[in-house]
Amino acid sequence: MKKIAILTGGGDCPGLNAVITGVVRRAEVDGFQAVGIRRGWKGMLECDSYDLSLKDILGIVRQGGTILHTSRTNPCKSEELMRRVLENFKKMGLHALVAVGGDDTLGVAKKMFEAGLPTVGVPKTIDNDLSGTDRTFGFDTAVNIAMDALDRLTTTAESHERVMVVEIMGRHAGWIALWAGLAGAASYILTPEVKTDLSDLCAVLKKRHEGYAQFSIVAIAEGAELGGDVLLQTEERDAFGHVRLGGVGERLAAEIEKRTGYETRHVVLGHLQRGGSPTALDRFIGLRFGVHAVRLIAQGKFGSMVSLRGNDIVSVPLSDAVDKLRTVPRELYEEASIFFV
Ligand code: F6P
Repeated sequence: MKKIAILTGGGDCPGLNAVITGVVRRAEVDGFQAVGIRRGWKGMLECDSYDLSLKDILGIVRQGGTILHTSRTNPCKSEELMRRVLENFKKMGLHALVAVGGDDTLGVAKKMFEAGLPTVGVPKTIDNDLSGTDRTFGFDTAVNIAMDALDRLTTTAESHERVMVVEIMGRHAGWIALWAGLAGAASYILTPEVKTDLSDLCAVLKKRHEGYAQFSIVAIAEGAELGGDVLLQTEERDAFGHVRLGGVGERLAAEIEKRTGYETRHVVLGHLQRGGSPTALDRFIGLRFGVHAVRLIAQGKFGSMVSLRGNDIVSVPLSDAVDKLRTVPRELYEEASIFFV
């Protein structure tokens, strides 16, 4: 029986177990043996794999995280490591690989495909910043968690007549902040794509507090610039060269308090946005992505990625996903800005 392996790489994300479920079930229907690779590309470097059966996927569609675990290992750091992945692929007797991840994991998948690895991709990230697909799974769950947080913070902000600044994940894209901010009735939203004039923000808050409401919720994406800077938690870089963002919410809260005199607090939502059960939408998309990834393999369409176009699952070249970051278009931000009151 031909073996199809699956790995999950990069930051975890609600819906990963749905993809694994889709791959395992469709593989079984098509007469393949599904194999799980542990800890993303690290497992390919260490031949760390096991056969997946129906028992392994029992009920996992409702679980957050990934039963395969994950890592940010980058085998494309050297030719020697890339060679090792190819050798281990053969050693494990695999026919094809499904790589589930964001731009880093899929970037590796693209390079490994070019080096001869028969692989297909599945787009994953709460940040929703991958090109080549209308959306990634995990985004809907993160948005709903952030929206729920804004709803909860609103009642305490209102009772104390405070400004509450909420820092939201998303790296260099403002999708989660924009969606959750709009849905959670934020008084102002700051994203990395649009430079905010702090005097404009404070004028909006002043007008609001002196007018129809004595509290405000400000949603800020972690990658938004403040005074020309993107704030970092640490200068240290991961295997893909990423710095850790964070701190902009605290800085903004201090600045608002200084400029307006309104009592201001900040909250960092952080990894809460990635934890717990996926929404129905993320389970649904995840399952379908998994099923279609196996279809791509059966059709020999290596080097491609499953993608959502409207309600259809189609395939696009892996390069479409990783060559360019998908950020929030200015028109969408401007459309949202009429609610900054
Ligand atoms: O890419 C997903 C993401 O959650 C980003 O929104 C965030 O900046 C980053 O990962 C956090 O990474 P880590 O889990 O390594 O702290």
